Amino acid sequence: MPASRRVDIAAPLLKWYDRHHRSLPWRSPPGAAPMEPYRVWLSEIMLQQTTVPAVIPYFTKFLARWPSVHDLAAAPVEDVMEAWAGLGYYARARNLHKCARAVSEKLGGVFPDSVEGLLELPGIGAYTAAAIAAIAFDKPAAVMDGNIERVLARVFAIETPLPQAKPELRRLAESVTPQKRPGDFAQGMMDLGATICTPKNPDCPLCPLRKSCVAQERGSAAELPRKAAKAARPVRHTIAFLLQRDDGAVLLRRRPPQGLLGGMLEVPSAPWRDSPWRNGDALSHAPAAIDWQEAAGAAEHVFTHFALKITALHGRVDARAAAEIDGQWQQPGDAALPTVMKKMLGLLPAGDDVRSTRNPRRGRARS
Ligand code: ADE
Repeated sequence: MPASRRVDIAAPLLKWYDRHHRSLPWRSPPGAAPMEPYRVWLSEIMLQQTTVPAVIPYFTKFLARWPSVHDLAAAPVEDVMEAWAGLGYYARARNLHKCARAVSEKLGGVFPDSVEGLLELPGIGAYTAAAIAAIAFDKPAAVMDGNIERVLARVFAIETPLPQAKPELRRLAESVTPQKRPGDFAQGMMDLGATICTPKNPDCPLCPLRKSCVAQERGSAAELPRKAAKAARPVRHTIAFLLQRDDGAVLLRRRPPQGLLGGMLEVPSAPWRDSPWRNGDALSHAPAAIDWQEAAGAAEHVFTHFALKITALHGRVDARAAAEIDGQWQQPGDAALPTVMKKMLGLLPAGDDVRSTRNPRRGRARS
C-alpha cells in the first residue's frame, strides 16, 4: 500500500468526526480534554460485546451509583453483579469490580496511562488497553474492534477472511493511527463503522474515506471483510423449574462464582445438555418434590457458543413449604436477572409474571 494512502486517512476522518461524531455520555466533544479515565474504562468494559444503545442506561446508572473508582471498589460484588444484570457476559462485571479494587487500593485511584500498565489490570485485554490509552490519555495506540476491522478491511481491500486477517489488519491500524488526536481518531473510526461503513449496506457516497477506499473503487465494500465459514452453533436443552410461593414470588438461586453467568441469580433448571429432556427424567433435578405442571410455550436464548432451548414446569408451594427450600424468593418483576433467566420466567402461566395477590390457583387450569 503506498504511503500516500496511509496519510490520507486520519485527516479526512478527523474532519468528518468533528462534524458528525455521536454524542455519548462517556465522550468529550472532539478536540476537548478527555473524560476522566474512570468513565472511559467503565464504558469500554461495558461496550465489549454490547451495543452502544444497550450500554447507555447501564453506564448512567453505574456512574450515578458509583461516581468514582473508589466508590465502585467499596461496593459489595453482589451489588455490582446485580446492577450489571441484563448486560450479559457476566465475567466482565466480576473483573470490573476486581479492577476497581486494584486501581483503588494499589494505585491510589489512578489508572495507568500506558497500554502495558493497563494490560496488567483484571478484565483489560489488548483492545480495551488500547482504547483507554487512546481515548483517556490521547496515546497513539492502535485500537481494533469489529467496526474498525471492517473499515480497514474495506479501505485496503483485504481479501483474507477473518479471523486470519487480524494480524494484517492490526498492522494497518498501527500504520494509520495518527500522533495527533489518536483518541478522536479511534472514536471516529468506531462511529464511521457504526453509521456509514456498516456491515450490510455501507453508505459509500457519504463516506469521508471514499477517495482512499480501494473496496469502494472496486465495488466490493459490502462483501468485505470476508469471513471464514463458522461451525454451526450447537443446541442445548433444559427444563426450567418455575416454583411459585402463594404470594407469587418465584424461587431463585445464586450460580457458582465461576463459569457461565457466574455469581448471577438463576431459575433452577435441569442440566443444559445436548439432547432434549423428558419431563419425568428432569424431575430428579427439581428443587422440590411437588406436583409439577407443564407450562405452555418454549423459549430460546443464544449464547456465544451454543443456543439453549427451554421448556418449563410450573409448581406452587405455600409459605411454610417455601421456607424449607434452599434459595431466595423474589417477585418475578423485581429480580435483577440475566436475560436467559427472564426468558425462563416469561414461561410462567399468564398473570403470574406480575406481583399478584389473586387466587394463586388460577394458573393451574392451563397446565
Ligand atoms: N464501542 C467500543 N468503544 C466505543 C466508544 N468509545 N465509542 C463508541 N462505540 C464504542
